[in-house]
Amino acid sequence: MTTVTVKASRTYDVTIGRGLLAQVGKEAARLLKGRSAAVVTDSNVAPLYLDRVKDALEGEGFRVCTFVFPAGEASKNGATYLNLLEFLAREQITRTDGLVALGGGVVGDLTGFAADTFLRGIGFLQLPTTLLAAVDASVGGKTAIDLQGGKNLAGAFYQPLGVLCDLDTLDTLPPETFADGCAEVIKYGMIGGPDLLAKLEQGTFRQDPEEIVARCIAMKRDLVEQDEFDTGARQLLNLGHTIGHGIEACSGYTLSHGKAVAIGMALVTGGAAAFGLCPAEVLPRLKRLLQRYDLPVETAYSSAELYEKTLSDKKRTGDTIQLVVPTAWGRSVLHRVPVRQLEDWITKGAAQ
Ligand SMILES: NC(=O)c1ccc[n+]([C@@H]2O[C@H](COP(=O)([O-])OP(=O)(O)OC[C@H]3O[C@@H](n4cnc5c(N)ncnc54)[C@H](O)[C@@H]3O)[C@@H](O)[C@H]2O)c1
Ligand SMILES: [Zn+2]
Repeated sequence: MTTVTVKASRTYDVTIGRGLLAQVGKEAARLLKGRSAAVVTDSNVAPLYLDRVKDALEGEGFRVCTFVFPAGEASKNGATYLNLLEFLAREQITRTDGLVALGGGVVGDLTGFAADTFLRGIGFLQLPTTLLAAVDASVGGKTAIDLQGGKNLAGAFYQPLGVLCDLDTLDTLPPETFADGCAEVIKYGMIGGPDLLAKLEQGTFRQDPEEIVARCIAMKRDLVEQDEFDTGARQLLNLGHTIGHGIEACSGYTLSHGKAVAIGMALVTGGAAAFGLCPAEVLPRLKRLLQRYDLPVETAYSSAELYEKTLSDKKRTGDTIQLVVPTAWGRSVLHRVPVRQLEDWITKGAAQ
């Protein structure tokens, strides 16, 4: 078991290990004054893990109510959010009670936003059950729902009371969902960890994920502690995401986030090589690593299509766009480029 303590606007522990769902009752009893807990989860996770969580909470004397919504990004919307708030009101959840987010990033983002706004803020615990949620979404306090105008357009910074990352839950992930999380893990390596990359190059970590997951969470902790509100260093976590979001949009969101980020990382690294910012040998090495984890490295969308969709991304500021650019194996920097140079960047990146 590993514990990573995050000191942001709230200080909390992220515990990583096996069998932790059974500990949620004790953790909730330690962190909450009230004795009611509302568990929020989706229709895939509920049959797998809801009973375990309910039993653990009831075992510590909690009254438990459960809110289960249809799995998938399409549920991370205003309608599910309002249904959840109405449910909490009906269940007479009070400010000393808590929410428990049991699931992937969709469950965590939605529950966190509801926790921030219900009664102007009640405590919540994160129980991430996907690799992506474990290494990224459950830590750092970004919460959100999607609007018709785009992903994550309504949200808040609201830190959880604690995070229990039960590695047993990763065992039931479909291979594709595990691969999506691997894109984020490789992203951490490319931001600041030649040693993490070396471990990833040695072979798959699916059987024994604790060390890798804990390492990624510690890196996220470091960036969140420096820049909780995402105006500086935390933006490094967007490596592969700016063009990646453009790729997701081109596909009408049929391509998964992790796959789009993998292609985005390859394109931005190719562009960096073409503009002389990154040694040429980094790109083929990155592509080999992504492929080893069943991730794609190229796309059939044209540079013009990608450019157009990438520009509608919310990260554009006036005439420039912020990219995260690898400058070496395991090192990346924030790099602002003129908007008109972006298409050239994508074209050259794809040609590498
Ligand atoms: N808040 C943040 O900092 C942050 C960071 C990155 C991503 N996100 C958000 O996270 C979301 C993506 O997260 P995700 O990839 O976890 O998606 P997800 O929550 O939709 O989970 C992916 C799929 O796996 C299923 N699943 C979850 N746990 C399972 C398990 N243990 N066994 C079997 N199936 C399981 C889910 O039901 C779903 O079908 C996006 O909405 C994204 O915007 C947030
Ligand atoms: Zn991501």
